[in-house]
Amino acid sequence: MNLQTYIRPYIDLIDTLRSVGIQKDLALPTIVVIGDQSSGKSSVLEALSGIALPRGSGIVTRCPLELRLRNVTGGVSWKAVLSYRKKKIEKTAEKTKRLRENELAGKGVKICDDLITLEVRSADVCDLTLIDLPGIARVPVQGQPQDIGNQIKRLIMKFIEKQETINMVVVPCNIDIATTEALKMAQEIDPEGIRTLAILTKPDLIDRGTEKNILAVVQNKVIPLRKGYVMVKCRGQQQIDEKIPLVEATQIERDFFQNHDFFRPLLDENKATVKCLAIKLTQDLVSHIKKSLPKLDEQIKKQLWDVRNELKECEAGPPQDLKGAKQFLIKILTKFNDKIKSLSLGELIIEENL
Ligand code: GDP
Ligand code: NA
Ligand code: MG
Repeated sequence: MNLQTYIRPYIDLIDTLRSVGIQKDLALPTIVVIGDQSSGKSSVLEALSGIALPRGSGIVTRCPLELRLRNVTGGVSWKAVLSYRKKKIEKTAEKTKRLRENELAGKGVKICDDLITLEVRSADVCDLTLIDLPGIARVPVQGQPQDIGNQIKRLIMKFIEKQETINMVVVPCNIDIATTEALKMAQEIDPEGIRTLAILTKPDLIDRGTEKNILAVVQNKVIPLRKGYVMVKCRGQQQIDEKIPLVEATQIERDFFQNHDFFRPLLDENKATVKCLAIKLTQDLVSHIKKSLPKLDEQIKKQLWDVRNELKECEAGPPQDLKGAKQFLIKILTKFNDKIKSLSLGELIIEENL
């Protein structure tokens, strides 16, 4: 059996459960990406997905983004599908490898809780699903509420406090690692670092003389995390301005580590490069899903049992007394009305074939 037939069913199962909204009732095994603003979060996700994500100063990611990467081989061309609530945008041309979340979630600066899903099918991606959350911002941009920082933290907390979540914390290594807000939040809810993984970015920007300290961090000797650290070098602003393609950036990244006096050993230790990160994340996610399945099964059975009991109450029909019968009817009508409302939110499908 090849690797893909072995891992895909696990990831697909959880994606399907999430797409029908199960996560509102049950915690699903998930990798969640968090980081302070400008930590390099978008750059890492771009390198993993091959898609140019929204970038810029200020808060760019306003909604949680579920990024589903699906490795396809043999004849299937590149395809990306972006969906939000009941809207869908399909992109099949490589030159449209750019995502603007405003296309779906509307313009604005407010933080929203609803999930945007981006599915990328490509021969160049790994099999992985992760959820990207807004970067932790300290200073609001124009039009944003003063408490934007707290709003974002609340949204992040909602995801990372669940035992079923693997926290992928993106931390630039050119700053004092221990003081980053994202790592502090992860430590707060996972003090022993059991389900936290850290990605160290911008190794090319560190101050001379701090290499040995950083190396000790990556080798898990400073802030120990059970899932450890991976160091990646992504495209800097200049390389983006020069439009250096991601494929070339991968080669540049490899050369960077191979020629680095201090970080070269990380290649052999499987603690460096985006490629190594992708492999590690897929393995972590699948083994995590496998571990979660028995508990998930148990919870689903319990909920089914509860629903069946509720159903039994209806079986008896309306109560005999007039007042009770009225209340019964009103309850049923309200439920029915809510259902109709949610169905008529509109199914708008936009096909885009540029
Ligand atoms: P985000 O706010 O966390 O999503 O951060 P971005 O991914 O937008 O990155 C912020 C800035 O850091 C951008 O200008 C990136 O080009 C730059 N950057 C990200 N990773 C690296 C890296 O490994 N090396 C260098 N030199 N710059 C990087
Ligand atoms: Na940014
Ligand atoms: Mg970003």
